[in-house]
Amino acid sequence: MHTIIEPFRIKMTEPLLISSRDQREQWLREAQFNSFLLSADRITIDLLTDSGTGAMSTKQWAALMMGDESYAGSQSWFNFQSTVKEITGFKHIFPVHQGRAAERILSQTRLKPGDIIPNNGHFDTTRANIEFVKAEAVDLVIPEAKDLSCDHPFKGNMDVESLKSLIEAKGPEKIPFVMMTITNNTFGGQPVSLENIKAVKEILTLYKIPLILDAARFAENAFLIHEREAGQSTKSLLEIAGEIFSLADGATMSAKKDGLSNTGGFFACNNNQWAEDFKNMLILTEGFPTYGGLAGRDLEAIAVGLKEALEMEYQVYRHATVEYMKNKLSEIGIPLILPAGGHAIYIDARNFLSQIPSSDFPGISLVNAMYLEGGIRGVEMGSVMFGKRDPETGAETPAPFELVRLTFPRRVYTQSHFDYVVEVLKRVWENRENLPIYKITKQPPFLRHFSAHFTPTTRRGSAST
Ligand SMILES: Cc1ncc(COP(=O)(O)O)c(C=O)c1O
Repeated sequence: MHTIIEPFRIKMTEPLLISSRDQREQWLREAQFNSFLLSADRITIDLLTDSGTGAMSTKQWAALMMGDESYAGSQSWFNFQSTVKEITGFKHIFPVHQGRAAERILSQTRLKPGDIIPNNGHFDTTRANIEFVKAEAVDLVIPEAKDLSCDHPFKGNMDVESLKSLIEAKGPEKIPFVMMTITNNTFGGQPVSLENIKAVKEILTLYKIPLILDAARFAENAFLIHEREAGQSTKSLLEIAGEIFSLADGATMSAKKDGLSNTGGFFACNNNQWAEDFKNMLILTEGFPTYGGLAGRDLEAIAVGLKEALEMEYQVYRHATVEYMKNKLSEIGIPLILPAGGHAIYIDARNFLSQIPSSDFPGISLVNAMYLEGGIRGVEMGSVMFGKRDPETGAETPAPFELVRLTFPRRVYTQSHFDYVVEVLKRVWENRENLPIYKITKQPPFLRHFSAHFTPTTRRGSAST
């Protein structure tokens, strides 16, 4: 069959708001022109993130009812532990309330000021947690990733030569671990090949540096390895995932992605000392090691979700959605990162709005235009999220790219919802020369995209609301 259908049917519905442009203008103004600050019930199609926004299956809902809420040693913990062990093979497993808790505890227990952590692409919370303890987060993605239209099948790969040079230049003692993010969210949700993970591991073994995976989208990465890497198409996704994890010494995980859960995560590792230190900090700040800040029912839902994310039919459908959107938007002429990654479409806002320089945040103009046109929420991944601001002088260093990510919640929207998104984007594209720019009027010292305030400016220098 040519038509790839959603491999589920809908048992429960949730109303979507259909709003007017006047309403949206008022609501966006009230949200200080930052779509993170919009009330979610004022959004029609929410593509802000795939994090914790998925629909759970009947099996997950049933598992919730089996949640054992004992403080210590609950049955739900043992179910969770055995599933994570079966998939990853790691010796020590710790639940956490979400991925960044694992990043925080890992950073605070293993890093000291001046350490360097290379990654194929640090996610913003990973970078922030590393920098918070005064270590340095370095991105070493392959050069092809910086050519947005280059059709490399594994644009999330790490640049192995640069990694080698960095270790030799700084010394392995400065690098307590190396991370690989699968898929590479910061650089377009692009997958990492098994071959690349093996090559990185080989170098790290020489220098005795541990490899830690940021495994938030490990199942999507396994699927793209299955589809794109020579010799992998006969393996199951569980086998491919097992091979990926067998190359690492540990992993941080946000279960809000490929755990198909609305919350949760874990840290896993093989090293006993790392585990001991992690456990002690976990008890101090998250909870007892058999629940780590989660309810027993969350542990149950994640245990089921991790397995469902590795089902081939699910991944075929999920990737078909991404490809469908890529094809429809490309037909209109909208510039995108190619090939499509695992969980989102990334619009190249710098080319979409070529009249707006990075210093005027083209991604914010595009995100706000999509909301005003059709109530769609996307997210800027450009100079607001990844640019640097000198706290003394206020000088801005722009991000390498100005992207807008349309992220697809798992099992939530149907094809007609996506057709609507295409129609809205077509209108924004046709009106692209008339969009305002936005200036920041208030911002926190880090992770500013979450809470910054903006004001629209029709021409450079003059604010208007
Ligand atoms: C690659 C990656 N790592 C880590 C995280 C952080 O996870 P959480 O939001 O659960 O803290 C995210 C969240 O989007 C992510 O995409």
